[in-house]
Amino acid sequence: MQNNQIIHGDAAAVLKTIEEGSIDLVITDPPYLVNYKDRQGRSLQNDNNPGGVLPVFEPMARAMKQNSYAICFSGWSALPQFTQAWEAAGLKIVSEIVWSKKYTSRRGFTQYRHESAYVLAKGNPAKPVRPMSSVQGWVYSGNKRHPTEKAVEILAPLVRCFSRPGDLVCDPFSGSGSTSVAAVLNGRDYLGIELEKAHCDTARARLAGAQRYRSEQATQNQKVAA
Ligand SMILES: C[S@@+](CC[C@H](N)C(=O)[O-])C[C@H]1O[C@@H](n2cnc3c(N)ncnc32)[C@H](O)[C@@H]1O
Repeated sequence: MQNNQIIHGDAAAVLKTIEEGSIDLVITDPPYLVNYKDRQGRSLQNDNNPGGVLPVFEPMARAMKQNSYAICFSGWSALPQFTQAWEAAGLKIVSEIVWSKKYTSRRGFTQYRHESAYVLAKGNPAKPVRPMSSVQGWVYSGNKRHPTEKAVEILAPLVRCFSRPGDLVCDPFSGSGSTSVAAVLNGRDYLGIELEKAHCDTARARLAGAQRYRSEQATQNQKVAA
């Protein structure tokens, strides 16, 4: 499988075609299984279908290198189902990261003011040289490109903390490609997989821009060094 592409398809099927042990880091934001609809009526593929989401984790873990990390966003309500799928895939929760919001995104039994991601380990990866704080400040993306777009600013520290330059970062629920943009801007390779064609097109356009920016920067640095 060639690196640095956004693949249109079902992540479970695509990941089965990827060489075993080839991914250095997964950062992913699957549907939280909450049947989400935003104010404009936009929804997410498979957000009401655990069978389209949970079977992705087994082939994902197989494609990860031994002793590597996957960072997976998740809401609290389907956490038992996610935990079971991660464990069945041989992934162990080793930490949690929480992003604190300055605004309420939903009102229920509490005012929802945070997002969470779980740090999953395949094997026994080395601890990060500079571990990040388990509490981070949330940056709102504006959700212009995708109904649940994550800001590159919150993904970039994950890329830097849990991988090295030149590593391959994979996002099997790629959406508008935010993880892959964070990877490119930090000198990593990327592989995104996305079920919805329109989101793939968005991601490919963003990645073309990020790669152009990165190579312009490299040219400028060479000029400065000359
Ligand atoms: C929460 S969104 C990700 C948003 C992304 N983090 C961003 O910043 O744009 C989850 C995405 O997973 C996609 N998806 C759902 N099931 C999938 C599957 N089986 N394979 C690949 N993509 C899937 C949805 O279409 C949706 O775009």
